[in-house]
Amino acid sequence: MKNSLKDKILLLTGAGGGIGSAIAARCASLGMKLILLGANNPEKLETVKTLVEKHSSCLAYPGDLTDLEFLSAALENAVEKWGGVDVLINNAGTAANTPFEEVTPETFDRIMAINSRTPFFLTQKSLPFLKRSSCATVINIASVTGHSGYPMQSVYSASKHALLGWTKSAASEYYKENIRFHAISPGGVYTDMVKVTRPDLTPEGMIMPEDIADIVEFILTHRNSNAVIDEIMLHRNGKEPFLV
Ligand SMILES: NC(=O)c1ccc[n+]([C@@H]2O[C@H](COP(=O)([O-])OP(=O)(O)OC[C@H]3O[C@@H](n4cnc5c(N)ncnc54)[C@H](OP(=O)(O)O)[C@@H]3O)[C@@H](O)[C@H]2O)c1
Repeated sequence: MKNSLKDKILLLTGAGGGIGSAIAARCASLGMKLILLGANNPEKLETVKTLVEKHSSCLAYPGDLTDLEFLSAALENAVEKWGGVDVLINNAGTAANTPFEEVTPETFDRIMAINSRTPFFLTQKSLPFLKRSSCATVINIASVTGHSGYPMQSVYSASKHALLGWTKSAASEYYKENIRFHAISPGGVYTDMVKVTRPDLTPEGMIMPEDIADIVEFILTHRNSNAVIDEIMLHRNGKEPFLV
């Protein structure tokens, strides 16, 4: 039987982006209340908030997600208003299409920070609230580059390997406390990011942001079912998506 998500509270990062906005729209349509955290571009986040509010309630906190004090203040404010967090989706991310020899320490630190350090510490800060939830779930949006290496993607790949590493560790550490951790590892998804990282790919046959929203919905609505898998890799371009 599918779980009802009505009035469950979702904390989502990167909601102004391609995949984030699709997840936000889907979760709002399922009756979840949304806390949208972080954005470089507050206008994009505001547009998504307006869309979400047609179906559900929404709090939005634009700001730099690599700023840990911003994360704490926003989370504290949201919990004060709504009383908790049931689901955390670490979706925000950034990439670079750079030859290995040209990666600077600044680029390395920036990408590792947004893709691995920020989700790590946001998860850590959310744990006191997740522990009080009956359906506590963390979903990290990783990447196929977290499983194998691609040219020009060395730092991005390192950051997603790191993300997957601590996701697996936290999954085993908190299983007994009934907190579920999942990672979704898409191949090329048709968003602004892929236009920068893989300008060679064309939209035909590419994964759509709504496909990722489908997987998120499946994980959340089947939380208590043995059918739920821990890691999902999705790779189109002629190949079937496969589940791990
Ligand atoms: N597209 C793909 O092919 C693909 C494949 C595998 C995995 N992924 C992963 O999927 C996730 C979503 O990516 P996407 O394709 O939807 O890309 P996107 O459209 O570029 O969205 C990325 C989001 O992250 C936010 N963000 C980045 N750095 C931030 C920072 N320092 N502070 C606050 N917000 C920040 C962006 O905010 P602004 O919009 O305000 O800048 C944007 O909302 C990422 O983790 C990405 O690595 C994507």
